[in-house]
Amino acid sequence: MAKKAKRIKRQIRRTREKPGYRPGESLHVLISDARLHRRIRELAREIRRDFPKDELHLVGVLKGSVFFLSDLARELGGEVSFDFIGVSSYGSGTDSTGEVRLTKDLDVSIESRTVILVEDILDTGLTLKYLLHVFEERKPKHLRTIVLLDKVERRIADVKADYTGFAIPNEFVVGYGLDFDQRYRNLPTVCILHLPTAKKAKSK
Ligand code: IMP
Ligand code: MG
Repeated sequence: MAKKAKRIKRQIRRTREKPGYRPGESLHVLISDARLHRRIRELAREIRRDFPKDELHLVGVLKGSVFFLSDLARELGGEVSFDFIGVSSYGSGTDSTGEVRLTKDLDVSIESRTVILVEDILDTGLTLKYLLHVFEERKPKHLRTIVLLDKVERRIADVKADYTGFAIPNEFVVGYGLDFDQRYRNLPTVCILHLPTAKKAKSK
């Protein structure tokens, strides 16, 4: 087995042993850390090609985008600043409630700035649609969106990201910032989470 695959298996095994892992939940690696970082480097190059001279103001949607934003920021050359916004769109299960609410606003104004809105995953699209509306009203010079993952099949709102890391199948994923009930964010890879049947039924 390749060294890298062994390392990822070890990392997942270690996570299972830590508090936070619940019996019956199992994880399958969908995107390795090497693939994540390779793609993020490409995305950073694309963004810089589009805005070679601008100061880029990255706005991360808490909390899922934190690792993505920090890795992306380090790959972007030139002037970069960041801020965070908090929204809540999910209950404690794996299905969206369909409701979007602002839980933490920006610290600084985005007026006349080149803003890159950084999201972990595009699912129904309701969160991004809501945020685009909020941001457009604040008159940025340019507004672009970047998402690490895109579950194309699940889209309800008519919205598309300007930059996308990976299109993924309709599975619930965790790791690299993404959570299930606030757990699994610290996995270095993006994994598909399989839940015990009883829990899945309860979350509906
Ligand atoms: P949307 O509004 O349905 O597009 O949902 C976007 C938000 O739902 C994301 O920012 C995530 O926080 C969360 N979400 C959607 N799908 C998943 C998933 O598979 N794993 C973890 N969180 C998810
Ligand atoms: Mg999110």
